[in-house]
Amino acid sequence: MRLFRIATLALTAIVSATAADAQTVRVGFVTSLSGPSASIGDLMDKAVRLYIEQNAASIAPVRVEIIRRDDTGPNPEVARRLTQELITRERVQLLTGYIYTPNAMAVAPLINEARIPTIIMNAGTSAIVRQSQMFARVSFTMWQSAYPLGQWTARQQGVRRSYTLVADYAPGHDSEQAFIRGFTEGGGQNVAAVRMPMNTVDFAPFLQRVRDERPDALFIFVPAGVVARGIMKAYADLGLAQAGIRLVGQGDITPDEELPNMTDVPEGIITMHHYSADADRPANRAFVEAWRRAYGANSTPSFYSVGAWDAMAAIFHVIREQRGQIDPARTMELLRGWENPNSPRGMVRIDRETRDVVQNEYLRRLERVDGRLVNREIETIPMVSDPWVRFNPAPPR
Ligand code: PHB
Repeated sequence: MRLFRIATLALTAIVSATAADAQTVRVGFVTSLSGPSASIGDLMDKAVRLYIEQNAASIAPVRVEIIRRDDTGPNPEVARRLTQELITRERVQLLTGYIYTPNAMAVAPLINEARIPTIIMNAGTSAIVRQSQMFARVSFTMWQSAYPLGQWTARQQGVRRSYTLVADYAPGHDSEQAFIRGFTEGGGQNVAAVRMPMNTVDFAPFLQRVRDERPDALFIFVPAGVVARGIMKAYADLGLAQAGIRLVGQGDITPDEELPNMTDVPEGIITMHHYSADADRPANRAFVEAWRRAYGANSTPSFYSVGAWDAMAAIFHVIREQRGQIDPARTMELLRGWENPNSPRGMVRIDRETRDVVQNEYLRRLERVDGRLVNREIETIPMVSDPWVRFNPAPPR
């Protein structure tokens, strides 16, 4: 009789635990909320909050609980420890965030082992999603923008010699390789490929060497945020534009939220990227308006915010479809081929095969409009999938 009572009690506990789980889906969110990258984490966090506020009713009665952790920047050890804690102690069912490639790489073995679907909000090195079947990415790849930018640059009149300058870590290497491949396939020649240590704060010596070399075009990649502000200031201070050296890059060198701090930067800089806050699409106008209502007229969302926004859209999709009962295999199946035609960036899709993002790339020109710098979209390359995959086919499984 006593045994029977214990068994009944245990069963009741299991049943009520399942019912409670069905009501709340626990999502671990790893981003950078302190240190030099704090402004980036803040742009993501604001998007996550805004998305939940606007869409909570669409998953009711299920609720989502976001459990935030601060990885403090490109620190793989910290990201790994926090992710481990989220999995074992906090029992999260989904993971998201990850600004930096080394951090995303570091958690691949953990999410494999625990089978936690993980939606990358930012990190852009192509090889990441191959490290685990549990990854899906909604942000971008470095190749997606740098390769077509290299092709475009080679088509410009008088541009025969390029020079690449990148942050010396995985996404910098991807960007360098992608730009050079596009540029040389288009008939150009890359005269120097220089990599700057990650902790570089004084960019003047690097840009002085560029000035001495006098290439027709300079391609730069540094992670967006305050680093981008620093290198753009050096570009302006050393008068490279006046010396006839055309600067090109991905959106990371002219992030929308940094433009108010880039007043000395000359107009006309060309970048390729998947999102500009200036874009005129109705979905983007609604997004920017809602953002400014929530966070103030001087606050601007950037590509970091849009990565976080679409990660939440994908998360809400898998929650809704499973009525809050998150099954890892079913979740990955739901992410494969998921698309959001109403993203602020335009249509965005997760490729069924690669689990990687497919989206428009926009060629943008830095322009001053009503006294404010904006990335004005001037050309669209529709629905670009990661070119790196074409050049590096996945080994057979
Ligand atoms: C990355 O580490 O993959 C990364 C970080 C910041 C960026 C782009 C890529 O702006």
